[in-house]
Amino acid sequence: MKALVFHGPGLKSWDSVPDPRIQDPTDVIVQIDTTTICGSDLHILKGDVASVKPGTILGHEGVGTVVEVGKDAGKFAVGDRVVVPAITTCGTCAYCRVGKAAHCMSTGVGGWVLGNATNGTQAEYVRVPFGETSLHRIPADLTDAEIIYVSDIIPTAYEMGVQNGQVAPGDTVVVIGAGPVGLSAMLTSQFMSPKRIIAVDLDDNRLEQAVAHFGATHAVNSGREGWMDEVRALSPVGGANVVIEAVGIPSTLEAAFDLVRPCGRVANIGVHGHPVTVPMDRLWIANITITMGLVNGVTAPMLIDLIEAGRLDIKPLTTHTFTLDQFEQAYDVFSHAAANDALKVLVTR
Ligand SMILES: NC(=O)c1ccc[n+]([C@@H]2O[C@H](COP(=O)([O-])OP(=O)(O)OC[C@H]3O[C@@H](n4cnc5c(N)ncnc54)[C@H](O)[C@@H]3O)[C@@H](O)[C@H]2O)c1
Ligand SMILES: [Zn+2]
Ligand SMILES: [Zn+2]
Repeated sequence: MKALVFHGPGLKSWDSVPDPRIQDPTDVIVQIDTTTICGSDLHILKGDVASVKPGTILGHEGVGTVVEVGKDAGKFAVGDRVVVPAITTCGTCAYCRVGKAAHCMSTGVGGWVLGNATNGTQAEYVRVPFGETSLHRIPADLTDAEIIYVSDIIPTAYEMGVQNGQVAPGDTVVVIGAGPVGLSAMLTSQFMSPKRIIAVDLDDNRLEQAVAHFGATHAVNSGREGWMDEVRALSPVGGANVVIEAVGIPSTLEAAFDLVRPCGRVANIGVHGHPVTVPMDRLWIANITITMGLVNGVTAPMLIDLIEAGRLDIKPLTTHTFTLDQFEQAYDVFSHAAANDALKVLVTR
């Protein structure tokens, strides 16, 4: 088969590789019908993720069709359409049993296995470990584009942003970072009926998208002098109830600490590569809650239900579509997202 193979920092190519085979009885082999690229794949290509060894097929998101089922994965049958989740779950370890698959103990590397410790979804076929407990069946009437981001960014934004941040009716919510993950946090914050959703980014196109399609009520460009005062003016009782960080750099998390009101919550989603200064001298007495984490994916079935019911529309996240043999072109567009007005790119069979 063909697949997008990581060859070390800065190096990748669309190569011919052996087809995946069942190795463990819980494996399921899935033909990839649609996949996509994540910001984390760009981190891997920069050399930021040491666990990914050269020779690994990238990708941890995808929708596909089951083509082979291990003898202990009998809930699925050849021909089933499934979502492949970024985080796989064994279903039985101490963490998976309490819905914390990000820390699955059965793999030796936690729940993020695909496109990290083993070959991922940017390929014609993928072997999904713990397939029976990990894959999600897709309702027949949904297209790949309507469901694909349930693999990663929609549960990430909802679990690490909205749920950790305890967004509640009437809240003022600030989302710093209007990339695909921040936009997904704006989309799923709306489940809780906040009063305001204030989008913050440096990119005016993304801010416009945030207001047009993702539920932001206000947009503030953080490249502007005095931007924090603009945000504070929208939350005059001492700041926002919830600040969701969806960038992953020290200055944006530090801004969150400045924008949250007493008794508020800072929910970090961003992947950080550097230490961040936490002003505990000021925050402890303000009763601030700070949360962080790797997504567990436990809300995926509920999110699929909402999509099926027409209550959640993730289609506006897709700005570009390619075929599998154009994978390197898809990477070019996604890695220069601002220049291309790109959000997510779909890559289909
Ligand atoms: N916790 C998890 O489980 C998890 C899962 C997936 C992704 N992530 C992380 O979430 C973050 C966002 O992902 P994404 O795919 O949306 O990334 P992205 O790079 O597409 O989006 C980041 C956005 O932040 C904006 N930005 C950059 N600097 C800024 C600044 N100083 N002020 C305001 N905005 C700024 C950029 O313009 C961009 O729109 C990344 O760090 C990613 O690795 C975390
Ligand atoms: Zn991802
Ligand atoms: Zn487990």
